[in-house]
Amino acid sequence: MSTEITRASAETNPLSNCRLAFIGCGVMAEAIIAGLLRKQLVSQDQIVGSHPRAARREELNAKYGIEMFEQNKEAALAVYPAGPDSSSLLVLTVKPQRLRRVLEELKGSIHQEQLVVSVVAGAKIETIADELLHAAIVRTMPNTPAQIGEGVTVWTPSAAVNEKQESQVCAMLNALGKTVRVENERQVDMATALSATGPTYIFLVMEALIDAGVHMGFSRHVAQELVHQMMLGAVLFARESHKHPAELRNMVTSPGGTSAEAIYQMEKGSLRTVLSKAVWAAFQRAESLGEKNRAR
Ligand SMILES: NC(=O)c1ccc[n+]([C@@H]2O[C@H](COP(=O)([O-])OP(=O)(O)OC[C@H]3O[C@@H](n4cnc5c(N)ncnc54)[C@H](OP(=O)(O)O)[C@@H]3O)[C@@H](O)[C@H]2O)c1
Repeated sequence: MSTEITRASAETNPLSNCRLAFIGCGVMAEAIIAGLLRKQLVSQDQIVGSHPRAARREELNAKYGIEMFEQNKEAALAVYPAGPDSSSLLVLTVKPQRLRRVLEELKGSIHQEQLVVSVVAGAKIETIADELLHAAIVRTMPNTPAQIGEGVTVWTPSAAVNEKQESQVCAMLNALGKTVRVENERQVDMATALSATGPTYIFLVMEALIDAGVHMGFSRHVAQELVHQMMLGAVLFARESHKHPAELRNMVTSPGGTSAEAIYQMEKGSLRTVLSKAVWAAFQRAESLGEKNRAR
């Protein structure tokens, strides 16, 4: 698998002459918009958005100074490039169940030079291309920590996406944290199960550990503080040490000690197998949702 992990470089900004339209401005669209403006990759007048509710349009306009439209079509047309050097991205950020209707609305209002970027879980490139009659599409899969700029987003382009468009997508997604370009949509489904669904696994483990602390007698507040910092520290330590997790675990497992006792119980309870089965089940679910959307 060829993957490339990058962070945006301050010197080169592929988005400098690019206009972006966000179709359906909920949580994920706002995370991208906020990240782009925070990192000064674009200015407010390069971004527009659409939303059916007036209150949300007013909220985003007041918060970020971006132009908001009621009709998705109007937002798409508003970012059509004015000059030969300018370009435009149309970012689909609606929920999967709204996608079909939104694509029907947008059909016919997208120019061939525009790039469509989908953040919609389970929506295949082929489905979007067929509905929009448009070839240049990038499918992405971010995760929840994107909301604080600490996410990891996997993405893959269709064959019609050119190099310049790829660098624009990469720069935009860097506003959410790290990015990983993958070769095909199967790997997007794999990432859906691993990195996009991943925070759920960690939140469950976090909750279980906090409850275990409360069970022993810590106040919930103290147990939470201990668990949060322990998990954060363990991840940073693992990343900095460049060691295999088993090696790190062996380093802290003394003969007859507390770690050895705890590991014995976790293995007895099949924790490793349960996690592996959970990720595999999520992968199969991601694949079947994609098939279902295509057949609809
Ligand atoms: N949030 C995440 O962490 C995350 C992670 C990975 C992928 N994603 C994907 O990102 C996409 C957006 O997720 P989200 O969490 O941002 O959802 P969200 O907060 O519900 O955002 C979607 C927005 O679209 C609006 N909307 C509804 N119908 C519309 C229409 N016909 N035209 C335009 N806008 C419409 C919704 O308005 P109402 O609120 O009024 O319905 C809502 O504000 C989803 O497809 C999801 O699979 C999200």
